Amino acid sequence: MPVRGQGSAGFEAVGSVAVRTFAAHQSPGPQTARTAHQSMDGHHVNAMAGDGSGAPHNQFADYDELPEGHFYDPDAEYEPDPEYAATLAPDAARQRRERIGPTGRPLPYFPIPGPLTDHGPAKIIAMCNQKGGVGKTTSTINLGAALAEYGRRVLLVDFDPQGALSVGLGVNPMELDLTVYNLLMERGMSADEVLLKTAVPNMDLLPSNIDLSAAEVQLVSEVARESTLQRALKPLMSDYDYIVIDCQPSLGLLTVNALTAAHKVIVPLECEFFALRGVALLTETIEKVQERLNPELELDGILATMYDSRTVHSREVLARVVEAFDDHVYHTVIGRTVRFPETTVAGEPITTYASNSVGAAAYRQLAREVLARCHAE
Ligand SMILES: Nc1ncnc2c1ncn2[C@@H]1O[C@H](COP(=O)(O)OP(=O)(O)O)[C@@H](O)[C@H]1O
Ligand SMILES: [Mg+2]
Repeated sequence: MPVRGQGSAGFEAVGSVAVRTFAAHQSPGPQTARTAHQSMDGHHVNAMAGDGSGAPHNQFADYDELPEGHFYDPDAEYEPDPEYAATLAPDAARQRRERIGPTGRPLPYFPIPGPLTDHGPAKIIAMCNQKGGVGKTTSTINLGAALAEYGRRVLLVDFDPQGALSVGLGVNPMELDLTVYNLLMERGMSADEVLLKTAVPNMDLLPSNIDLSAAEVQLVSEVARESTLQRALKPLMSDYDYIVIDCQPSLGLLTVNALTAAHKVIVPLECEFFALRGVALLTETIEKVQERLNPELELDGILATMYDSRTVHSREVLARVVEAFDDHVYHTVIGRTVRFPETTVAGEPITTYASNSVGAAAYRQLAREVLARCHAE
């Protein structure tokens, strides 16, 4: 790990966010808006290059893979360009020591988790936002895969009838005989019959397909309909360290089932203008479930996704989100990159598809942050 803040460069008492605003405003185009960053071994990489718009790319364009052996450290992204830093005020040393992250807060160090000697009982996390396209499924797959890489036993539950989580892990939902629907609706059905192993060691999947949409209707007349998933997951708790439920984009009965089963909620928010719309309704739903069905339920964090540090808009939205949710916002922020849509086509997580990419590093950091939050309790 290189010593950070080498030399006497300093910068004003502004967050790295402001630093970037400056860079973006000063620059005529994306080419010059880029700043050089250092990876953990001092190798210069460019994390912000490329936008898929056909603009000229450098060799690491669009969060592309780094050379073999160069593990990308997302923390390094917050290093200002050395030339620019040299023009700034002497507050830099402190800022670098405190490592201001993209959320504008000091970035804590999230330790690499140690190995586990035994597994379970599982912590259940619901990935939830009634808005579609905010990164729920992507975050479920990649947080799960990163936790599994750290030796945690992980079960992913596809709880969206669209089956995107299953597709994202290379499963064709149309070909499934048994899905989470059968597990929910058929008494005596054991989870082992439905479980699929994924290509990621330590990570299993409860797949789903359009059948699950019928459950929403059929559950209405069930006794204790809100806790159906909780009951179905109970026998699996001792086998896993983390169970992550990918919710559908609604606040209907399936989502309420996920919230009732869960210990924690992660809310992915796309860094776009309407990000905060509907979040009040979501937090209200979480509170209602907390009061009436599941007093253990907690909001673990808000995850900013599809963040583009080159746009003022993205930075402003992120600042608004932090203003609204404070410490609930994860320090880890997921950048926007075409690598994620690519992984869906490939049917595997980014941690294996593009192991050295910035996206993979971001989800590994998120896994460490989630683990750190769990251990802090
Ligand atoms: N960080 C990201 N950068 C770019 N595209 C992303 C990112 N995260 C997700 N996507 C893409 O955005 C779309 C919606 O993401 P998805 O995870 O399916 O959201 P949701 O499950 O909330 O509907 C998908 O095509 C996905 O590949
Ligand atoms: Mg989804």
